[in-house]
Amino acid sequence: MGSSELIFRGHGTQQESDSYTPKPPKPWESLTRLVRYLVREQRLMFLLIGIALPTIIFTMLYSSNPLSSPEDPPEPYHKIVYQGSGGKIPLGLKSRGSRIVVTGGAGFVGSHLVDRLIKRGDSVIVVDNFFTGNKENVMHHFGNPNFELIRHDVVEPLLLEVDQIYHLACPASPVHYKYNPTNVVGTLNMLGLAKRVGARFLLTSTSEVYGDPLQHPQKETYWGNVNPIGVRSCYDEGKRTAETLTMDYHRGAGVEVRIARIFNTYGPRMCIDDGRVVSNLVAQALRKEPMTVYGDGKQTRSFQFVSDLVEGLMRLMEGEHVGPFNLGNPGEFTMLELAEVVQQTIDPNAKIEFRPNTEDDPHKRKPDISRAKELLGWEPKVPLRKGLPMMVKDFRQRIFGDHNKDASSSTL
Ligand SMILES: NC(=O)c1ccc[n+]([C@@H]2O[C@H](COP(=O)([O-])OP(=O)(O)OC[C@H]3O[C@@H](n4cnc5c(N)ncnc54)[C@H](O)[C@@H]3O)[C@@H](O)[C@H]2O)c1
Repeated sequence: MGSSELIFRGHGTQQESDSYTPKPPKPWESLTRLVRYLVREQRLMFLLIGIALPTIIFTMLYSSNPLSSPEDPPEPYHKIVYQGSGGKIPLGLKSRGSRIVVTGGAGFVGSHLVDRLIKRGDSVIVVDNFFTGNKENVMHHFGNPNFELIRHDVVEPLLLEVDQIYHLACPASPVHYKYNPTNVVGTLNMLGLAKRVGARFLLTSTSEVYGDPLQHPQKETYWGNVNPIGVRSCYDEGKRTAETLTMDYHRGAGVEVRIARIFNTYGPRMCIDDGRVVSNLVAQALRKEPMTVYGDGKQTRSFQFVSDLVEGLMRLMEGEHVGPFNLGNPGEFTMLELAEVVQQTIDPNAKIEFRPNTEDDPHKRKPDISRAKELLGWEPKVPLRKGLPMMVKDFRQRIFGDHNKDASSSTL
């Protein structure tokens, strides 16, 4: 018989009579056979161990990082409290310091912020072009492996692998800010960096966004009263644009952002002759020059000590709210009252000289800080009469050349 004849080729051609059909097995018979197979030679034990081992490993892996468990429902964005380029880490479990860039970190506020971050154990990169800042403000960190200083103008792009960006770079005093487009172009570059590396971005905006306010005290919901073409506009409108860009990157590109609106701040390491009211009066009184008060001296300001501000900025960065948040001291002083406190602290015989007011100088400025109190658990602690002597000590050392090293290296 040829091999082809052994092949079954179709229905009906096969002989029914001589075919053998075995009886179909009873269902319980195959089950019994399977059980007998498994029990023989401890196969069942090996099977159970094979299932148990991966289950234990899987459970252990995911219970140590609850945010990455695939069974977890997606957390709302604001509850995932910390997301750096290294992935999502709940704040309380942070085992290593973060990598943080502080633009303008060699300036007055920036250098105090750097001190606090380094003290906390973070790695800090300062980016500064020294336009108004000073290397001496951060020199005490030279040689610390957690500290780096880059001379760079933020108007040019920069790529750094970081978890957080505190963006302070901006000439903040009236004598300097007229010459610099930092607010808009610099902010845009730093937002681009935040987007690229997945870093959280904090903008240091200003109470100047309220202009000459028609609401008193100012809440964050107030939209402001700003002259778009005045001599101060490059600063006021620049910061307003920076806030707009920040929110656009947040909404449009999903960048995690924070916005602080800072009110007048004073303290050690302020630029000495930069035209800001507290530094002006203190420097004049120390040099035995008449203290200049503009207008009738009845315009009011609130003054916040720098350590209070730094605490507020860090709480904002680590917290879960975008802002904007007013960060300032609600204690309100007229310019004349301020001059009197300076007299009492430095020289009771210091003279006051009145000069015509500058254009667009706001009449009143006082923060409403209820939002920061409620959502950040923050409020300023240092009153003017306590903070001013610390600033005076630092100014005295710098003006009269007393090179006591404590002044520049102390952390407040
Ligand atoms: N101090 C205040 O009372 C106050 C109030 C409101 C807002 N702010 C904001 O806080 C931030 C810090 O202010 P500050 O008082 O420490 O001022 P500051 O002038 O002492 O510090 C600003 C720093 O930014 C640097 N910088 C300026 N332009 C730069 C550029 N293009 N590239 C790189 N670095 C540049 C300066 O060299 C300086 O070190 C600013 O953004 C300011 O607008 C401060």
